[in-house]
Amino acid sequence: MDKNNHPYTFFLTLLCCSLLLLILSGQQGVEASGHHHHRHHHHHLYSFRPTKLFVFGDSYSDTGNNRKSEASSWKYPYGITFPGKPSGRFSDGRVLTDFLAKFVGVRSPLPYQWRNVAKKYLKYGMNFAHGGTGVFNTLVTDPNMTVQIDLFQQLIKQCVYNLTDLHTSVALVTVAGNDYSAYIVKNGTAQGFPSFITSVVNQLYLNLKRIHSLGVNKIAVTALEPLGCLPRSTAITSFQQCNGTENTLVNLHNALLQQAVAKLNNETKDSAFLILDLYASFMTVFKNKGDGLGNIKFENPMKPCCIGISSEYSCGSVDKSGAKKYTICDDPQSTFFWDAAHPTQQGWTAVYSALQATLDQIFSKTD
Ligand SMILES: *[C@@H]1O[C@H](CO)[C@@H](O)[C@H](O)[C@H]1NC(C)=O
Ligand SMILES: *[C@@H]1O[C@H](CO)[C@@H](O)[C@H](O)[C@H]1NC(C)=O
Ligand SMILES: *[C@@H]1O[C@H](CO)[C@@H](O)[C@H](O)[C@H]1NC(C)=O
Ligand SMILES: *[C@@H]1O[C@H](CO)[C@@H](O)[C@H](O)[C@H]1NC(C)=O
Ligand SMILES: *[C@@H]1O[C@H](CO)[C@@H](O)[C@H](O)[C@H]1NC(C)=O
Repeated sequence: MDKNNHPYTFFLTLLCCSLLLLILSGQQGVEASGHHHHRHHHHHLYSFRPTKLFVFGDSYSDTGNNRKSEASSWKYPYGITFPGKPSGRFSDGRVLTDFLAKFVGVRSPLPYQWRNVAKKYLKYGMNFAHGGTGVFNTLVTDPNMTVQIDLFQQLIKQCVYNLTDLHTSVALVTVAGNDYSAYIVKNGTAQGFPSFITSVVNQLYLNLKRIHSLGVNKIAVTALEPLGCLPRSTAITSFQQCNGTENTLVNLHNALLQQAVAKLNNETKDSAFLILDLYASFMTVFKNKGDGLGNIKFENPMKPCCIGISSEYSCGSVDKSGAKKYTICDDPQSTFFWDAAHPTQQGWTAVYSALQATLDQIFSKTD
């Protein structure tokens, strides 16, 4: 199997060249709007007015924590749609964090690495997510989720955030599958997969519980997206056929996650935890070839916009002379996937649209 079809190319794309400018303008995110929706009812997310968003996880939520010298997210053509240049987001534009921030009604939170240079934005929360990471150590040296939560706890100890702040905060936790790619690269066996999935979800359960115990009252965690439908898995079928073996493993992860979240909600008594089902929402977008409303259309939703010209290259790769080793589509608005593993901004818009039904149902239902 060539490298680009293998899950670990996801990580190899992280280990690329450098962009030296400190670009802060990428952090504008989605500005607050629609502050007043769904905020009046008891026993739901907006029984308080959310003031902050704290984010933990990987490239599906990272908005700029990756080191510029290493990550593809800091290289052209990442960021061409928003903010117009690379911003550390693994997309052409906005990612899940930006959309959830908009829903919650706050500015997209500051990446942790800029906490000391952009202090005026601390009040919107903070993004601790790092592309390539998992709940366990993966193939990148960036902080796993436990360490991300440690950093959060340190800021609380330093009184950057107090208990009132935390009680009126929302947390987003993403797990997009880096633990599993690392498991494969480290020669994990097929028979061992189910028990490894169990240990990932068990650790995730502990992480979620810890974020809650630090004082955050509302926590949204993503279900695993259909890994077998990512371009890195479908390339061998010209982006036509999902890998069913991989999706079966994803279903096990998601079933265990559902149990873990039910247990957490039972233990905490306040329905603090909710799942953002990326599996169902990705599948819905594939089936509808868009958002199903006619506002967004993807002719072939499985085919990415930006692809390496061969298995040695990925989106953003250049050779020693600086020549591009990838192709890019004419219009990133027309494709669901940006690169081998990540949606475009338009892709996330369609996913968010599918998720919004759940969000609205949970958050606006009257008692
Ligand atoms: C997270 O990373 C730290 C530092 O590498 C390590 O000590 C710890 O065991 C890791 N945690 C998990 C749950 O893998
Ligand atoms: C907590 O911090 C906020 C600012 O983030 C401040 O407005 C509030 O007064 C503080 N509350 C307490 C109890 O210290
Ligand atoms: C995995 O197996 C391959 C081939 O058997 C070997 O070359 C590689 O070093 C192994 N990797 C690890 C992390 O054990
Ligand atoms: C599906 O994925 C599995 C696990 O990564 C892999 O071993 C298998 O070859 C893939 N099947 C196809 C048809 O690509
Ligand atoms: C909730 O927890 C209680 C014990 O605290 C247990 O008796 C009950 O069966 C649990 N319910 C569910 C749905 O897990």
